Amino acid sequence: MAARLVCRCMGLSSLQIEKLVRDRGLADLTSLALEAGAGAGCGTCRPELEEMLAELAGEAVPESLRRVETALLGVAARLPPPTEVELRSMDGLRVELHLARNDLPELRALIRERLCKLVCTELEVVFR
Ligand code: FES
Repeated sequence: MAARLVCRCMGLSSLQIEKLVRDRGLADLTSLALEAGAGAGCGTCRPELEEMLAELAGEAVPESLRRVETALLGVAARLPPPTEVELRSMDGLRVELHLARNDLPELRALIRERLCKLVCTELEVVFR
């Protein structure tokens, strides 16, 4: 599932808000509004922001990580054999991958392009 625009007034996507919550430890609407302006405009996004905050506080596996894992499975299935791609880590919008057995620049570019298209255009995909 791709990132969705949550706060139209501030132009903040679901992935950007998740990153703000995780990286800055924002845990309530007030801190989100003060730090990023999320929910500080018209206010129509506040119910969704509250849902996101509740989910992020209680989830074991972040939704953004699940989205990247799912997208990567689809991308990996289309890579030419014997290519193998592995998700090493994800920190906010930064995804670290390992490409094995067929580590070519064009495959890295293809994977990067597909993940950004499927998950979020602001995703930073690096290879180690
Ligand atoms: S949509 Fe978020 S404050 Fe207006």
